Amino acid sequence: MSNRAVSYVGPGKVEVIDTPYPEFELKDGPGVNPANVGRKVDHGVVLKTIATNICGSDQHMVRGRTTAPAGLVLGHEITGEVVEVGRDVEFVKVGDVVSVPFNISCGRCRNCKEGQTGICLNVNPDRPGSAYGYVDMGGWVGGQAEYVLVPYADWNVLKFPDRDQALEKILDLTMLSDIFPTGFHGAVGAGVTVGSTVYVAGAGPVGLAAATSAQLLGAAVVIVGDLNQDRLEQARSFGCETVDVSLGNPIEQIEQILGVPEVDCGIDAVGFEARGHGSDAGTEAPATVLNSLMEITRAGGSLGIPGLYVTGDPGAVDEAAKQGSLSMRFGLGFAKSHTFVTGQCPVMKYHRGLMQAILHDKVSIAKNVRATPISLDEAPSAYAAFDEGAARKFVIDPHGMIAR
Ligand SMILES: NC(=O)c1ccc[n+]([C@@H]2O[C@H](COP(=O)([O-])OP(=O)(O)OC[C@H]3O[C@@H](n4cnc5c(N)ncnc54)[C@H](O)[C@@H]3O)[C@@H](O)[C@H]2O)c1
Ligand SMILES: [Zn+2]
Ligand SMILES: [Zn+2]
Repeated sequence: MSNRAVSYVGPGKVEVIDTPYPEFELKDGPGVNPANVGRKVDHGVVLKTIATNICGSDQHMVRGRTTAPAGLVLGHEITGEVVEVGRDVEFVKVGDVVSVPFNISCGRCRNCKEGQTGICLNVNPDRPGSAYGYVDMGGWVGGQAEYVLVPYADWNVLKFPDRDQALEKILDLTMLSDIFPTGFHGAVGAGVTVGSTVYVAGAGPVGLAAATSAQLLGAAVVIVGDLNQDRLEQARSFGCETVDVSLGNPIEQIEQILGVPEVDCGIDAVGFEARGHGSDAGTEAPATVLNSLMEITRAGGSLGIPGLYVTGDPGAVDEAAKQGSLSMRFGLGFAKSHTFVTGQCPVMKYHRGLMQAILHDKVSIAKNVRATPISLDEAPSAYAAFDEGAARKFVIDPHGMIAR
């Protein structure tokens, strides 16, 4: 069997390559941790990929802001049809159409047992937590490919109840592998509930998913900030208020909207590549969003921080940031008794409930993030368009199974 995949070549460049068809063993290759080479995956399944999305997390690697090696096969947002099951798989069957959480987790360690699947202890020899197609995440091969191996399949995958219905709603359901649960986790972490006022920094797909989630949770007002005008327009298209951070500190615009210069809940959907505010919007200032959320969020409030922060950043603005040390005004957060919720989203906590919300037409996540299907061969140009700030979520459709 042959296989084709999207691979990282070097800063600013990805290409479609021929790559081995998955076997039930983790083979050596770019980014594979030596301690994981030869690992048996009889608990895995092979999926024929139906939909696999390009993410802002991929962009950190593709922009050369990580130590990702050339040749790494990308892709952690995977939805597919099971075409082979490993010897030890009991319940997943060939023909099932499933969503795969981007976190790889074993279901057997202390953290998995406590529902913390984003920091599984058994899948990544480097550190707790793993993902497909990602630097320092153990070397599990990415899913922006025709076929992909999913380990611990009985534990990891979410089966859709009906194949035809799943294919009909695939552009919504594909968001269950990452951004919808991630945005929802950001909103839950920020304490969003009925009547909350919410500020979401970042109008990329994760920010728009967080805004959608805040609406679903009953927020009174959802304000989304960015400097990208098309993305702010996209946020307004489904009822969000917006703040243009290139005009200055968001606090003044928030006061104009709410009558008070604070919100109940703050969400960071930007991460370490944050731009400054106002006249500094042209330059990177990695602590900007964290500091501004502490300023904006009410005393006693929580900050949901799905935006990614790293322990090493070769392209950082200064020496401290190269080690992941940012100039945070932590004393302000302490003074206001803020809670910080960080880390990978434990997708499994949320994906079933959000699937039900999609299947019962309670939410339009694909429309809100402007899901845009493309072929595998269009991936390099979609990466470039996403990097330029296109107000879209690109969904790679390697087998032409998604209706256009
Ligand atoms: N924690 C998790 O589990 C998880 C999962 C998925 C993605 N992520 C992370 O979430 C973040 C967002 O992902 P995405 O796909 O939406 O990325 P994206 O790059 O498409 O969006 C980020 C947006 O932030 C905007 N921005 C920059 N500086 C800003 C500022 N100071 N204020 C407001 N907006 C600002 C950018 O213009 C851009 O539109 C990334 O860091 C990604 O790695 C985390
Ligand atoms: Zn992602
Ligand atoms: Zn585990």
